[in-house]
Order: sequence, then structure tokens, then C-alpha cells
Amino acid sequence: MPVQKKANVTELHTARHDSSEKARSGMDKILVRGGSRLNGTIAVSGAKNAALPLMCAAILSDEPLQLRNMPLSLNDIKTLTAVLNELGVVSGTPEDHTLMLHAPAITCHKAPYDLVRKMRASVLVLGPLLARTGQADVSLPGGCAIGTRPVDLHIDGLRAMGADISIEGGYIKASAPQGLKGAEINFPKVSVGATENLMMAATLAAGETILSNAAREPEIVDLGECLIAMGAQIEGLGSPVIRIRGVEKLHAATHHVVPDRIETGTWMIAVCLTGGTLRLQKTRLEHLSALIGPLKEAGLKIEHEGDDVIVSRNGRPLRGTDIMTEPYPGFPTDLQAQFMTMLTLCVGAGMVTETIFENRFMHVPELNRMGADIRVQGNSAIIRGVPDLVGAEVMATDLRASASLILAALVAQGETTINRIYHLDRGYENIVEKLQSCGADIERVANI
Ligand code: UD1
Repeated sequence: MPVQKKANVTELHTARHDSSEKARSGMDKILVRGGSRLNGTIAVSGAKNAALPLMCAAILSDEPLQLRNMPLSLNDIKTLTAVLNELGVVSGTPEDHTLMLHAPAITCHKAPYDLVRKMRASVLVLGPLLARTGQADVSLPGGCAIGTRPVDLHIDGLRAMGADISIEGGYIKASAPQGLKGAEINFPKVSVGATENLMMAATLAAGETILSNAAREPEIVDLGECLIAMGAQIEGLGSPVIRIRGVEKLHAATHHVVPDRIETGTWMIAVCLTGGTLRLQKTRLEHLSALIGPLKEAGLKIEHEGDDVIVSRNGRPLRGTDIMTEPYPGFPTDLQAQFMTMLTLCVGAGMVTETIFENRFMHVPELNRMGADIRVQGNSAIIRGVPDLVGAEVMATDLRASASLILAALVAQGETTINRIYHLDRGYENIVEKLQSCGADIERVANI
């Protein structure tokens, strides 16, 4: 695939973004008339949370990185492409789920506030920039709807690797003129982003880095496998201890992004609620082991054929069950809101405990407005099953909360209007089209 010059690509990106923005404004609404069973086939997209760090890995090499199975229509991917373009990373024309990134030279060390504030994962450019050039100025991401979300673990880890870091005017100003050095880093808390940032930084550091209490998410393994394909020396992926031996240089590679386990889990929960049968294509059931037990307990039938997962629920009542979010392989916080929606219609009651983020129950008042009976106490929510949800006008508050409201709307009596759906455009590819193709009565309408 041809790699275009920076100016052209940036213009092209802006133009595409503008025209698609007109057609699909984040201020649009989603209208759902509940009551249809879901039957059909959905091809699961590549994982957003894998794609973002993989894109940052392109900074580490002066040779091209080709990423396949990319969820290219997501706004988060477009935002990060703009951040990378700003740094001098050239992006090829995105097509057919493939994105080519090439950083022959890093021409700027600054990830500006205007872009980073749109998406906190932009902080993942910090480690790669510092490792490749010895300098990085990255805006602090700031808070977000689901909590304060600091980046202290990223900063402490890079300091342990010899970086000089100060916070000035809302920016992380980092330098390592002599280059980064390998270090032993024991994370006091499991962090997906910090593990990714430090793993990338360590690939070009002098000597060995040992990351203990590292995150074990499939997206970490995916990033590690891509880095290995680029020439990095990494052991222990998927375990709490990752060892990285720094090398002089990374080289060109092609990598296929892992399927989105959160999207897969969202569809599995959807069928639990609506009934029917869905075939979920190109996905990995083994990445959802913590969800399978609770969903089977609730009444879902789960089978798999190669890379396809077939889920069905036919008539049986949903049973209440308890879950607690934990780092992988525990129950994912990114499926907590959707699971809670399912519990609203269970026989009996269920409890959801959130241990990762301090403010991730923003969907509760919206679900209660639809007739759910949920009470929050501290970091737990008790959900008492009700016979029906009723359509209402609701507001999406963050990405996964938005998905939980769509699921509620699919089974609610009457019509639900979901406002502020720009969150969904950040992280679910073609959600309306995918649901329509399986029989849901759902449409996106312009908010005029
Ligand atoms: C990633 C995911 C997000 C998911 C989350 C947890 C991406 C792009 N996003 O976010 O969808 O919900 O993992 O599975 O992959 N923390 C600190 N200091 C730090 C870093 C994190 O205290 O320096 C805390 C956070 O506030 C949070 C916890 O650690 O309470 C876990 O956060 P982390 O795993 O870092 O989440 P992200 O990488 O931001």
C-alpha cells in the first residue's frame, strides 16, 4: 500500500472526517423500538483497545508498520491518527480495515492538549516518543466521566528507567538525553495503559526491564506480539511478569489486530436480554472466560465453531447472578454496565461490584428512569429484577454506559431515545447497522 506524504494525508483525513461528521454527527440520537428478538450474524471488529497502543508502536521504528483488522471508522482511531500525524508519523490511506503507519523521522515531540483531551489513550505516545527520541511533551489527559484516572504509574515507571520528568503547564515534559535504561518496575496497581507504555519504552532501552504486577489483558499480549514481530525481545506476555531486553532498532512488520472481546461480550449480553440466536464471527471466546460462567448461569447457551461463537436464549427466564470487576482474567469493567442491564430483568436479584474505576455507575439513574430497580451503595449496586423496562429519553454518559442503554432499549416496551451518542462513535463500529441486520428496530437520526 502506498504511503503518502504527511500534508496530503492530514488533508485527506480532515476532509474525510468533515464529510462523515456531517452525515454522522455525534449530536445525533439513536431511536430504538424495543421488543425484537436478535437473529443473525455479526462480524466482530478489531479491538479498539488493542488498535490504539499498536498505532503508538509505529513511533518506535523508522520502518513502516502495517496494521490489519483495524476498526477504522471509530473516532478514537481518527483522533490518534491526528496525534501521530502531528508527531511526523505518516499514515497511508486507510482502506479495507488496514492502516499503514510510517515514522521515518519524528518531527515534533509534542502531543497537544486539544487532541489528548479528546482521548486519554493518547498518553500512550509518551513511552515510544521518549524511547525513540529522548524527548516528549504530552498533555496530561485530565479527568473523564468514569473517574480521575491519573497517569502516575506511567510517569513513575519512566522515571525508574532514567527519564527526567516534570509537569509544567498541564504537560508531562520528559527527557532522557542519554537514552532510557532497563529497570525493575513493580506496579503497585495493575494498569493496562502503564504496562503498555512501559513495555513499548523498554523495547529500545539499554539492558533488561522487568515489569511485575503487569496487566495480562489480551490487548497487552497483542501489542507484545506486534513488538516481537518488529524485532523486540519480550518474554512473559499474558503473565504478571514481563521481561523486555532492549534492542538497538525495531523494523517493519505487519500485524493483525485481535478481535474486540468487549464488542463480543456486548452482543452475548444482548441476546441474553432479547432472546434469539446470534453467530458472532471472527472472535475469541477464550478472552471472555469471566463472562461465560455468569451468562450461562443467567440462562444463555454458548457454543463455538472455530472463530465463530453462537449464542442463544430461547424462552427461559433470566436468573440473577453476582459479578465483581477485576483486572484480566477477571470480569472486565468494560462489560459491567451491559451486564447490569441484563440483571435488571432477572428473576430475583444480582449484585455488581466495581473495583477498577470509582465512578462507573453513571448508567444507573438512566436505567432506573427506564423502570429498573437498582440501588448503589459504595462500589456495589444491587439490582432487583423487574418484569419490564419501559422506553424513555435517556442520555449516554460514557462509551460502555451508552452500550448498556442500547441493550436496555432493545427490550424495553415502546420507544427509547438515546442522546449524546458521540461516545458510541468512539468505540463501537457500525453498531446501528449491525443491530439492524439482526432484526432490531433501531435507527440513527439527526438531532435538529
Ligand atoms: C484501559 C482501557 C479501558 C479499560 C481499562 C481497565 C484502553 C484504551 N482503555 O484503560 O477501556 O476500562 O483499561 O480495563 O485500553 N491508574 C492509576 N495510575 C495510573 C494508571 C492507572 O491509578 O498511572 C488506575 C486507574 O485510575 C484505574 C486503574 O488504575 O483505577 C486501572 O486503569 P488502567 O488499567 O490504567 O486503565 P486504562 O489503561 O486507562
